[in-house]
Amino acid sequence: QWTTASIVDETVAAIREQIGDRRAICGLSGGVDSAVAAALVQRAIGDQLTCVFVDHGLLRAGERAQVERDFVAATGVNLVTIDAVDRFLGALSGVADPEEKRKIIGREFIRVFEQAARDLQAEAGAEGEHIDFLVQGTLYPDVVESGGGSGAANIKSHHNVGGLPDDLQFGLVEPLRALFKDEVRRVGLELGLPETIVHRQPFPGPGLGIRIIGEVTADRLSTLRAADSIAREELTAAGLDRDIWQCPVVLLADVRSVGVQGDGRTYGHPVVLRPVSSEDAMTADWTRLPYDVLERISTRITNEVADVNRVTLDVTSKPPGTIEWE
Ligand code: XMP
Repeated sequence: QWTTASIVDETVAAIREQIGDRRAICGLSGGVDSAVAAALVQRAIGDQLTCVFVDHGLLRAGERAQVERDFVAATGVNLVTIDAVDRFLGALSGVADPEEKRKIIGREFIRVFEQAARDLQAEAGAEGEHIDFLVQGTLYPDVVESGGGSGAANIKSHHNVGGLPDDLQFGLVEPLRALFKDEVRRVGLELGLPETIVHRQPFPGPGLGIRIIGEVTADRLSTLRAADSIAREELTAAGLDRDIWQCPVVLLADVRSVGVQGDGRTYGHPVVLRPVSSEDAMTADWTRLPYDVLERISTRITNEVADVNRVTLDVTSKPPGTIEWE
């Protein structure tokens, strides 16, 4: 019987064996997998690891701070944050098509990450060192899904840094390859990572970019961020975090409807709440949230978020609907 502590010990020993006294980098997404993978490698090789976090401006409220403050406090990891907000917004300007948005976000992400890796490689070179390894949070189900092959082919497209250019060839370190998600969470807790990271619900790589139906702009992002943050706060306050798989909040940025607030007529945008229950995201049911929770979310969003005058509920299962709207 494997205990979580013994999984940690064995994995840390294996990482030390693989990396030795060489150097590694790891991209953090804000999600649980990359965080736990990085924390394991940090425990194994300490300062020989550098983590890179790309802020693409499509994150939810507080997520950058969670990585920069809470994750660093819990692990002591060397972290480089790349502020690429303007770059992503520029690349997304004028684009409304969902697939095109995903492609742009994926492409820019890889470019920014590669440049960061190159800069770190140059810094290491100046000290007569070289970064030899790339850490990835590949889980056992990812390994199985992609036919058990090893290496870069397993990485989800958004985080895909496989096919790296010649000057950036790394050996892969995949400390979670034998683990299921629940084991990863237990390992994360064992390593002292904050609950907010360990129990974070799934959040797509392209982030809020695929939850704005229409063009992604800075104003729309801040509207959606505010609405999303209220929904998350109220779901947490109601103790529902573990009952739902995730609850995307979607901004219908190209739709307007008439409303009345105070003495005046409004002409604002609707948001959609998309609470789902699921085991693996392959299928999902819409979650029957208590009416009083829905009421609080609706009242707060329409009162507190300028430009949103209507809150709607998505009651579609998957299939036929996907979980995300794009
Ligand atoms: P769909 O919308 O396909 O989503 O029912 C299934 C699950 O996957 C998440 N999702 C993504 N995760 N990159 C990710 O890392 C993506 O591009 C992406 N698209 C969807 C979604 O949040 C849900 O949990």
